Amino acid sequence: MADDNLDRAARNILHANDRGGYTVPNGRVYPFQWNWDSAFVAMGFDRFDRNRSWTELETLFRGQWEDGFLPHIIFWQDDEGYFPGPAVWATGTAPATSGITQPPVAATSLRRLWESAVDAGEAGAYRARLEALFPKVLRWHRWFRDNRDPDERGVAVVVHPWETGRDNAPEWDAPGEPIDTSQVGDYVRRDTSHLDAKMRPTKLEYDRYLALVQFGRDLGWDHARIGRESPFRVADVGMSMILLRANRDLLALAEELGRTEDADELRASIARAEAGIGWLWDETRQTWCSRDLVTGRSSGFITNASFLSFYAGLRDQARDQATIAHIERIGAAVRYLMPSLDPEDPGFQMIRYWRGPVWAVVNLMIATGLSEAGHETLAHRLRDDTRTLIARNGFYEAFNPIDGTGSGGDDFSWTAAVWLAWAGRDA
Ligand code: GLC
Repeated sequence: MADDNLDRAARNILHANDRGGYTVPNGRVYPFQWNWDSAFVAMGFDRFDRNRSWTELETLFRGQWEDGFLPHIIFWQDDEGYFPGPAVWATGTAPATSGITQPPVAATSLRRLWESAVDAGEAGAYRARLEALFPKVLRWHRWFRDNRDPDERGVAVVVHPWETGRDNAPEWDAPGEPIDTSQVGDYVRRDTSHLDAKMRPTKLEYDRYLALVQFGRDLGWDHARIGRESPFRVADVGMSMILLRANRDLLALAEELGRTEDADELRASIARAEAGIGWLWDETRQTWCSRDLVTGRSSGFITNASFLSFYAGLRDQARDQATIAHIERIGAAVRYLMPSLDPEDPGFQMIRYWRGPVWAVVNLMIATGLSEAGHETLAHRLRDDTRTLIARNGFYEAFNPIDGTGSGGDDFSWTAAVWLAWAGRDA
């Protein structure tokens, strides 16, 4: 398909998944608003409908809680096709939401939307909307600082694998072992009725997901307590890098808006992260990994999140060289970068969700960082691979890194958005 046709197809997917002010990731498998999906979707809409792109973020923040927390799902309307739905989460909020969060890409998306409006000479029309959104995003970032960084290391701690957005990454296997699944009871999964079970998380993983939902619900979704008491507490390397990047982007917006106190506060968060995030460097594996807060152990897994340090704005000669060497090694082993798990890992599986497949959104972030750090050749490889995957196979949720075939749901919103915002654009 020529790029014009692909652009049109991508726009059609966003339109088809638009439920009026928010976009579902995929109509069948994910029929609600998802947090980080919407941040990417907004970048896609920005290519052809600026007003609609801002609305996507505005609708997302209408789901924000009093304490600044921004949920991973907002159930604007119920849908039988998904489990666990609003009745299982039982957060008691209006709108109904989940009780866990997701990677904070929204600030980065907002900065991009704002700069695009400025470039188009439309800053005047969007400034009030920026001023309204900014404090909401800041409150969410404060929530991370106050609830999810108990040792003040500048990392982001997750209390559920779903918060990481990399649901079944092997990084969560060992930290998940203490989760008591004995009270989970019977339930009917809906994901495996839409998709091949071979592509999805296992029953053991799902039991743990549900046990953690029950744990949060039993604590009345008191985030401070969950952050201290959850059996699953992991400093996620992906979330930590994304938050550091998001704080830098929010700082740029604070400066733009002349909010000097907020800017100072953000500088302090950034400084804390720059000083402490080295805790996630795995000296033995020479890579960035998540670390279990409960045992203090590094996961030791090389995943696509290991390559977000450039995106986070971190620069360290020795670590950067080691990171680039891993990317080059993996790039020689697979046809399409970046598999979600190192193909040399014994647990690598070409089509099982976050244990092998390529995710376009992660590629966008990795390549953005590589390009900013001057590693243009590798950044181009990631972009070209993403472009080829989509052009040859369609707008799938994820892709097999060996043969490129689509994995998971089709007509996926964030893949369409990544095409419009990055992969399908001229270099
Ligand atoms: C899956 C992904 C998650 C995403 C969601 C909706 O749960 O792991 O990252 O947000 O689907 O696309």
